[in-house]
Amino acid sequence: MMDAGRHPRIQLLVNSEVEDITGFVGNYQARVRRRAQYVDPAECTSCADCEEVCPVVVPDEYQQGFSSRKAIYLPFPQAVPASYTLDADDCLGFNPIACGKCLEVCDKKCIDFDVKDEIFDLEIGTVVVATGLEPYDPRPNDEYGYTSFDNVVTSMEFERLICAGGPTEGELLRPSDQKVPERVGFIQCVGSRSTNRGVPYCSNICCMNTIKQTLQIAEHYPEARQTVFYMDIRAFGKGFEDLYRRSREEGVDYVRGLPGSVEGDPETGELVVQVENTLAGKREEHRLDMLVLAVGMVPRKLDTNGNRKTGTGKTGNGKASASKRPIDEILSLSHTSDGFVMEAHPKLKPVDAPTRGVYFAGCVEAPKDVKDSVTQAGAAASRAGNLLSAGQVRIEAITAELTADLCAQCKICAKVCPVNAIVEADKKSDLYPDFIEAACAGCGTCAAECPFDAIVMRHFEDQQIEAQIDAILADDPMEKIVAFACNWCSYAGGDTAGTSRLQYPATVRLIRTMCSGRVDAKFIWHAFEQGAPMVLVSGCHFADCHYIDAVTWTQRRVEKVWTQMEKAGIRPERLQLDWISAAEGQKFARVMRELDEMLRTVTEEEVAQTVSILKKKNFGAPKKVAPLLASDKAPEKAAAPVPA
Ligand code: FES
Repeated sequence: MMDAGRHPRIQLLVNSEVEDITGFVGNYQARVRRRAQYVDPAECTSCADCEEVCPVVVPDEYQQGFSSRKAIYLPFPQAVPASYTLDADDCLGFNPIACGKCLEVCDKKCIDFDVKDEIFDLEIGTVVVATGLEPYDPRPNDEYGYTSFDNVVTSMEFERLICAGGPTEGELLRPSDQKVPERVGFIQCVGSRSTNRGVPYCSNICCMNTIKQTLQIAEHYPEARQTVFYMDIRAFGKGFEDLYRRSREEGVDYVRGLPGSVEGDPETGELVVQVENTLAGKREEHRLDMLVLAVGMVPRKLDTNGNRKTGTGKTGNGKASASKRPIDEILSLSHTSDGFVMEAHPKLKPVDAPTRGVYFAGCVEAPKDVKDSVTQAGAAASRAGNLLSAGQVRIEAITAELTADLCAQCKICAKVCPVNAIVEADKKSDLYPDFIEAACAGCGTCAAECPFDAIVMRHFEDQQIEAQIDAILADDPMEKIVAFACNWCSYAGGDTAGTSRLQYPATVRLIRTMCSGRVDAKFIWHAFEQGAPMVLVSGCHFADCHYIDAVTWTQRRVEKVWTQMEKAGIRPERLQLDWISAAEGQKFARVMRELDEMLRTVTEEEVAQTVSILKKKNFGAPKKVAPLLASDKAPEKAAAPVPA
C-alpha cells in the first residue's frame, strides 16, 4: 500500500466510488465520486490533536467494535495516505454546528466542513476489479449462540483480539470479563458448505486460518486447551499440511463433528458444547471459555441468503447518494452460481472478464488466500499492462455489422447486446446505432434478435448457417436431428463425450455457433421447413454463458417459437432446449440418446404436414423496413476542401 501510494505512476483515489464506466477496451471513461473527506490529506500531519478534543465516541469498525474511535479518526494505523478522516454521520459539526472543537485546535487548518463531494471523469484503458468479499454474517441464523453469548466470536473478531495492533494489544481476553480464556474452541465451516445455512461452497481459507490461530494461541498461551470441531480439514497448499501437523503436535484437539448445540452455563459462565465425535463414535460434551466461529466468505453485495443487496451508499454529507450501482452491474459482469464474478474462461483466461479490457484480482472471483490473491493480482496487472503497452487491440473477426439500409432503428440490438457494444443512435448526429467493433464479443444475439435482418454476423452469417441446415437435411432427413450447439459449452460437451468414448447416436448433427444467443428463430423454422423431424438448441447453463446474459435471450426466443408451434398445430416437443456444460460429456450423450428416442416418435406424415404449414405461415421472415424519409437521414458530410 505504501509503495502504491508513493509510486509516481499510480494515482490513489481514496474515499472514492466509481459511479459509472462507459466505452470499450482501451477507451473507457470512468465517472468517479470522491467523497468529501473534510480533512485535507496533503496538509494533515496525523498529529491527533483533533482526535483528542473530539467529544464523539463510537464503536471502531476496524477493531470489530471491541474498542471505540472518535468522529474524527485515523481509519487504521497503516492507512495510506496517513491522514485523518471525518465521519460526517456522527460528527456534531454539521447543520447546525454544535461542536467544531477540531477546527479550533488544528494548527495546519486542514479541516473544512464545507467541502463537498467531487465528481470527475477519468480516461482509462483497462479496468482491474478487485472488490474482494465479505465474511458470512452469523447473526441472522444465530449460529452457535453468536448473538446470545459474548464469548462466542467470529474468526474476524478473534483476529483483532489476538493482534498486537488490536484493542487489547495482542493479549487474548475474552469479551465477557476480560479474562484470559483457558479453554478455546473453534467451529469450522460456519456458513460454508451448507445448502440451508449460508453458502454451499467451501470458503477455502477458514481451515488454514483456524490452524494459524491455534498456533498463535499455543505460542502465547501454551497452557490453554484448544479444540477444533470440523467436518474435514482442507490443508492443500504448499506447507499447509506441515502447519496442520504442527498444530496437532502442539496439543490442539481436533474433533471430527460439528456441534449440535452451544449453551451457556449460568452458574459458571462456561459455554457447553454438545457434539458427536464421528471418529470416536460417541457423544461428547465440551466446556469452553471462548468459542471462535470460523465463518465462511460470501461475495460482496450479496447477503447471506444469496439475495443481491441494493446500494445504500452515503455521500459525505451523510445523505443517501442518488444511486450507488455495484461494479458488477456497471461493467455488466456475469456471475457463477455461487455469486462470484465469472471469468472469460476458467482455465485459459482465469483473470479476464468476458468484457474485453476488464480483469479480476483477488476474492472478487472466488475466496482465496493472500498468496493466491497476490498471484492473481500480478497476473491481472500483467494482462492489463500488456494491453496498454501494445497500444492497439487485436480482436477476433467474429463481429456484428449493421446493414444500414435494412435498419429501422428499433433499438432492440442495443438492448440485447450483453457487452454494451452497440450504442443507441443519437438522434441529432447519427441515424443508426453505432457498432463498436472493438467491444463486440461476437455472440450474435443482436443478429438473432433483429426483426429486420439488418445485422450480419461475420463468420456466422444467416446464409452460412442455413446452408449447413440444408446440407444436413439434403439426404434422409427423417434420420437427422439438427442440433445447434454453443462453442463454449455444449459443443465442448460433445468433445468431452467423444474423448471419453461415450457413444451417442449418429443421427445428431451439430451446428456450432459462438453462443446459443446466435440461434435465430428463423434457423429453427428453416430446419423444420426443410423436413427436420427434431431440432435441439443447446448452450451453456445460465450462470456459465460466456456472453453474460445472452443465454436468457435464447430461452425467450425458444419459448416464443414453442408458443407459435403450438398455435400452428406443430408438436412443440420436436424443438428441444437444453443446457450442457463443457464438462458434461455424460449429459451430452444422454440428451442425444433421448433426442434419438423422440425422433422415432415423429412420422413422415407429421413432418410433411409441418412443411406444408410452414410454407403457408412464413414464420421467421424478416420484417420490412418502412423507407426513411429524406428528412430523417443524416446530413451528408461536407467534402473536405481541396487544397489549392
Ligand atoms: Fe454458451 Fe452463451 S456462450 S450459451
